Order: sequence, then structure tokens, then C-alpha cells
Amino acid sequence: MKEPLKIGLMDSGMGGLSVLKEILKYQKDLEVVYFGDLKNSPYGEKSVKTVLELTRDVCNRLLEEDVKTILLACNTATSAAAETLRKEFKIPIFGMEPAIKPAILQNPGKRVALLATPVTQKEEKLQKLKKELNADDLLLPISCPGLAGLVDRGDFAGAEEYLKPILKSLQEQEVEIVVLGCTHYVFLKEILLRNMPDLKLYDGNFGTIKHLLNSLGGFVSGSEFSKTENTKYKLILNSEEEFHFSLADNLLNSKSEV
Ligand code: DGL
Repeated sequence: MKEPLKIGLMDSGMGGLSVLKEILKYQKDLEVVYFGDLKNSPYGEKSVKTVLELTRDVCNRLLEEDVKTILLACNTATSAAAETLRKEFKIPIFGMEPAIKPAILQNPGKRVALLATPVTQKEEKLQKLKKELNADDLLLPISCPGLAGLVDRGDFAGAEEYLKPILKSLQEQEVEIVVLGCTHYVFLKEILLRNMPDLKLYDGNFGTIKHLLNSLGGFVSGSEFSKTENTKYKLILNSEEEFHFSLADNLLNSKSEV
């Protein structure tokens, strides 16, 4: 029997689980190995050089699992490392695409807030995208240092307190469209909507996975890339904290729509 295609997913911690959840919706003939680098999380407040080194180490660790392609399920790692690692690795490296394009195009003339880590906000990838979309005047960048760390600790009450003043300021500025430019923040959708029900939220998970699966279809051309009953996955969490393992299970199995 043909082996399923093995792909690696990486993130600094829990955020990429929202991306894994999106992949699992499609039940393709895949085996996913997920690596959450919790010992080194969060990445978003580190230097670009450090994020590149950490991401490279995780990708090498995933190669030991014999993955045939890697998705950086982390906007921060994508911004800091995707281009370099694509040159260094022989296997395809995919990255996250923040959903700025659909947010801007579907809401012409409206201001769009981008919640993301400091590294993502300042990196060239975002600057290029802004230029391409001519979106400088419409995009309101909001750096959220520390927010991903709260998700990794399962501190959702803390995350809500963190977000309240941000939402208040959005309300004052009459901004209702928000792009979640960090895979961790996808787990905060319910909190965001509870506090501001009129928000229109965008995240990059759907678009990224659609692109990944389309590309993998081509990548495995000549063989079947069929639907299966269940996509297998294995979680590797770089952590000695017991609660990280139960938190990861809860986030993956929670019914909430991410
Ligand atoms: N999940 C990550 C992202 O998408 C990184 C968060 C962090 O480690 O700071 O940006």
C-alpha cells in the first residue's frame, strides 16, 4: 500500500495547532508531524536572526522525522526565515500568508487592523505586501508583544484583558475589520467576538492550507493524493511542562470554530 505523504508543521508553540486543525478538516492522505518549540516560545519578540536560527533547528528536527515538505505554521517564522530556508533545504518550504489581501479587497476603502507580533510587523514580507496592495493608508498595524505567550500558557483570561484596550481603541476609530496575523491569535476569535460582536475577522489559515494542498497535489502528481478517512498526526512539543500537552489536546479537540 502507498505510504501517505508526510509533512512537517512547525510553530513556536500552540499557534500552529490552529493550522493543523484546518488541515484536518480536509482529511487528505497525509501524515502530519507537528513541532511546537515551546522551550523557545514566543518567537515574536526575539531578533530576526534568532528566529531564523530557531526555525532552521526545528526544520532540521522535522527532517529527522522524514517529512517530505514543511509548512512554517507561524507568521513570525515565515517572515524571518522562509526565504532563507527555501534556499537551504532541498524539500519545499511553505509559509503563512496573512489574510490582508482578502480583507482589503473585500472591504474597499475601509481601514483594516493587523494584529501580529513585532517581528511580523517590521519584516520585509509585510512591507512588500502593503506596497503591492497600495494599503499603507488603510492598514493599521497593531503589535501584540506577549499575546502569543498568554495563549501558550493557556491564559485566556489574561489574553482577554490584554485585548480589551485594543478593541476599545478600534471601536473609537470605527475600525471593524481585523486580520489575525499570528496563528496563535486564531484561538482568540471567540474572545474577540464576545467583546466586539461586529468585528469582521480574517486569518490566513484557510488560504494557506488551500494553497498547500493544491501545491501538494502537484508535488505528488502521478500518485494518488486522495481523501482518506483520517489524516494522521503526531505532536512533538519541545516542553517539559505537563500542562502544555493537555492544553495542546484541548485546543486541537475544542469544537470552537477556528
Ligand atoms: N504563532 C506565531 C505567529 O504566527 C508566533 C507567535 C510567537 O511565537 O510570538 O506569528
